Amino acid sequence: MRLTQRLLVSLLAAALAVEAPTAYAQPQADNAGERERIERRDGGRRRGDREGRQGKQGKGQGGGQRRADREPGNLPLPPEVAALKPLSVMLGRPTDRGITLNVLADGALEGFAEYGTTAGRYERQTEAVSLPAGTPVEIELDGLKPDTAHFYRIRSRKPGETDFAAGPEHCFHTQRPPGSTFTFEIQGDSHPERAHQHDPAMYAQTLLAAAADRPDFYMTIGDDFSVDTLRSIDADAVERIYRSQRLFLGLVGHSSPLFLVNGNHEQAAACNLDGTPNNVAVWAQNARNRFFPQPAPDGFYSGDAEPVQFIGLLRDYYAWTWGDALFVVIDPYWHSPQPVDNVFGGGPKNRDMWAITLGDAQYRWLKETLQSSRAKYKFVFAHHVHGTGRGGIEQADLYEWGGRNKQGDWEFDRMRPGWELPIHQLMAKTGVTIFFQGHDHIFVRQELDGVVYQSLAEPADPNYVLYNKEAYRTGDALPNSGRVRVTVSPQKVGVEYVRTYLPQDATTEHPDGEVAFRYELLPPGSPRTTKAQP
Ligand SMILES: [Fe+2]
Repeated sequence: MRLTQRLLVSLLAAALAVEAPTAYAQPQADNAGERERIERRDGGRRRGDREGRQGKQGKGQGGGQRRADREPGNLPLPPEVAALKPLSVMLGRPTDRGITLNVLADGALEGFAEYGTTAGRYERQTEAVSLPAGTPVEIELDGLKPDTAHFYRIRSRKPGETDFAAGPEHCFHTQRPPGSTFTFEIQGDSHPERAHQHDPAMYAQTLLAAAADRPDFYMTIGDDFSVDTLRSIDADAVERIYRSQRLFLGLVGHSSPLFLVNGNHEQAAACNLDGTPNNVAVWAQNARNRFFPQPAPDGFYSGDAEPVQFIGLLRDYYAWTWGDALFVVIDPYWHSPQPVDNVFGGGPKNRDMWAITLGDAQYRWLKETLQSSRAKYKFVFAHHVHGTGRGGIEQADLYEWGGRNKQGDWEFDRMRPGWELPIHQLMAKTGVTIFFQGHDHIFVRQELDGVVYQSLAEPADPNYVLYNKEAYRTGDALPNSGRVRVTVSPQKVGVEYVRTYLPQDATTEHPDGEVAFRYELLPPGSPRTTKAQP
């Protein structure tokens, strides 16, 4: 090739590289398994603009936008969220025959729930209870029909009133049996304390869109109740954060039971205990369990059975079965002797990565739960692979998760005596379908040894930033913001990344609610399918 031709080819290649980075321009199939179907759309309008700023200004966490922290307990409330303030309901702990209504009134009320299996017809009602101002009250509905849609509304009255006013009707579904089709949805870190990563109106938009899908339940993945930007901290300051987030999540939580996953910024962690009831770990976990009805071990859920002083049962790790799927939530923060990620109050991070652990009891439970389940699909949820660090499968061979140290030496048997396998190998051996994680603020799909590693985007980043891409050497990556919708059926699991665009950013090509990436996973033993691209 003559020099001028080579130069032209080089220039063309350089121009193409600038215009269309291969990481975004086409699907990557480097870790694609045999059992899946993949579709993706481009990462969205103004991506180059937004990510260009990221490239110039920052790297990694917080890169791309000037960091602007704020106290998350006093956010301006979008109208739909403010409308929930007088009286809101947060559903939790659904079973085949029951559910918990966590009812919160702004001013003192008296109220009850009426419910039934036909819209507008309420055959049953609960006893009226006092709803003190600002104090969540749990109302249990039991004796429900399995695998059935139930309709309910709250009737309430102020002191001195005679009639109970009727609130809006909502609908939830009791446990699905095997062979059913259902959806659940999940969001990544919402970080309301970060102005550059969280637009309250956008958050409401994402949650309202999720609610419109009527998922059987909604999940978060941690870093939704950060206490790290509080200027002064006490029980009330911590509680304000949970109250505020509760109002937002109430947009979906009145009809879709909410399951929480613990994150590093919650600081609900064993290392913060000090032998008294006056520390951030106790304040955070008690607020969490007061405002959000989370599962404890019973006949339907399994999980953390070890009470903690000044709290009781933590409700931090738990599992349940729904349709053809097993759901398993795990938590390293309450079981590690040292800070897993950022140290509350500041200071250097812990560098002894073997000190990060689920602990013996949680590991035994996880192993038993995964091994004994006959569910067709298994989903595991944690804030992050190790509860800290960056990346997905890049981290999966390390420490408790993969058994090796940073130099690649096998240390598992010495560091975890009595444990059969590291967590990744355990997930692979027991047929885990997808491991969901947050922490990195990016949508990435990867696969290792048959286990999909699905990192979740933030739900309300108005700058649509692609954070932490450098930590992912492989996989399909898309920028913020949105949520993930998972449809589970006997034939397959469908995973969709549903984007949220603010009205001023939505276009005909990339509308709000666009499914930007989609893949399907077939049950184990299914015949090979061909990957599909848009
Ligand atoms: Fe985070």
